[in-house]
Amino acid sequence: MSKIAVIGSNMVDLITYIDRMPAQGETLEAPGFALGCGGKGANQAVAAAKLGTDVLMLSKVGDDMFADNTVANFERFGIDTRYVQRVPGVSSGVAPIFVQADSHNSILIVKGANAHLSPADIEAAAADLRECKLIVLQLEIDLETVYDAIEFAHRHGIPVLLNPAPALSGLNAEHLAHLDFLIPNESELALISGQVVDSPESANAAARSLVAGGIRHVIVTLGEQGALYVGEEGEFRVPGVRVEARDTTGAGDAFIGCFIHHWNQDADIRHAMEQAVAYSACSVMGLGTQTSYPDRETFKRFQQQR
Ligand code: RIB
Repeated sequence: MSKIAVIGSNMVDLITYIDRMPAQGETLEAPGFALGCGGKGANQAVAAAKLGTDVLMLSKVGDDMFADNTVANFERFGIDTRYVQRVPGVSSGVAPIFVQADSHNSILIVKGANAHLSPADIEAAAADLRECKLIVLQLEIDLETVYDAIEFAHRHGIPVLLNPAPALSGLNAEHLAHLDFLIPNESELALISGQVVDSPESANAAARSLVAGGIRHVIVTLGEQGALYVGEEGEFRVPGVRVEARDTTGAGDAFIGCFIHHWNQDADIRHAMEQAVAYSACSVMGLGTQTSYPDRETFKRFQQQR
């Protein structure tokens, strides 16, 4: 199995479990707190690595107490960190996260060092990137770097996947047209397509418009409703997996990490989506982001039990 490259963010997740959001000027006691490794790029890389994929990570950490721990965390999962570099005089990325009792979350991100990952870093890693079977991107780094990575992949015939999160409007259609995979959730899909997405039918229609624009495969994650596919292989839906959710933070990243792991094995998109839906359902049963991602054995047990 060949290597997958993730070009993206890492964050320190500052997760506060709350009963409700405080009002302006109010101080409120919260029942719990956890510090964890997060960031959409890092989460996707760690999920894939936990399942056994060989991952090359391109990312930037800051010049602070968090940096060494982030690099050590990547290394703990066997991720290649040769291109995870420190930026002097800059903070690491951090994400204050608020998780409500109903398992839903609100997230702030401070990009910090992540904003310094540049096209020059892609050039510096070019020889290693050319050996990868897939390049995976999100939107927590500079947009020009994302576009540069898409064009690099396109030039070298390397499949490229964009998870357009966090949601951003006005993405450049010419660059998007060079994507092999786009994996948005419903609100990201609405922003990118410029269409209202409020039903399975409207999600299909919006996804179709992106495929008409040149993207080969659009996969829309629908939370507990599963996921839908529109693209070269037709249109189909993978149903959700019912579980008792405790913390949904990073569930979308769990989906992508598991999807790329399975796609890398046999390029079977439907099977990879089925596995990814189950993996992200399993992840919401645990607390935290990366801490809630099952390894291969735990995921196997989860699937046998359901
Ligand atoms: O997708 C979840 C992630 O979003 C968190 O880990 C947080 O760091 C933000 O990047």
